[in-house]
Amino acid sequence: MMEELISRALEARSRAYAPYSRFQVGAALRCEGVVHSGCNVENAAYPLGTCAEGGAISAMILAGGRRIEEIVIVGGGDQPCTPCGGCRQKLREFSLSDLKVHMISPAGTLLLTRTLAELLPDAFGPDNLE
Ligand code: THU
Repeated sequence: MMEELISRALEARSRAYAPYSRFQVGAALRCEGVVHSGCNVENAAYPLGTCAEGGAISAMILAGGRRIEEIVIVGGGDQPCTPCGGCRQKLREFSLSDLKVHMISPAGTLLLTRTLAELLPDAFGPDNLE
C-alpha cells in the first residue's frame, strides 16, 4: 500500500508547476483505500501559489472523501520536504493526530516519518468548535 502512495507522489511531483522556485513537490494520500494526489502549482503573482498537499486534499474532497489515513510527500534533494505550517493545519482538518506523514526523496527512499501530533502539537481543529 505504501508502494502505491510512493509511486503516486512521485508521479504527481513530475507534474508540478514550479517555474519560480524550481522546487517541485508531490503528495499522495490514502482515504478509504483510494489514493489521491496533488502537486504544487505556482503563479506569477507569487503568494497565489498552492502546495502539493492542498491539491491532494482537494482531490480527496472532490471524490467524496473526508479522512486522510496516511500521506507521502516528496520534494527535492535528500532533505525531507516537511509540510508547511498552513498545510499542517489543512491536514489536521481531515485526520487524527496519529496520522503518519512520510517524507521521501525523489528516488523514492523514506527520509522521515512523523505523526501529525509531532508536526502540529496542541492543534486547533474541528473538535475545538464543538
Ligand atoms: N511546497 C509544497 O508544495 N509543499 C510543501 O510541503 C512545502 C512547499 C511548495 C510551495 C512552493 O511552490 C515551493 O514548494 C517552494 O516553497
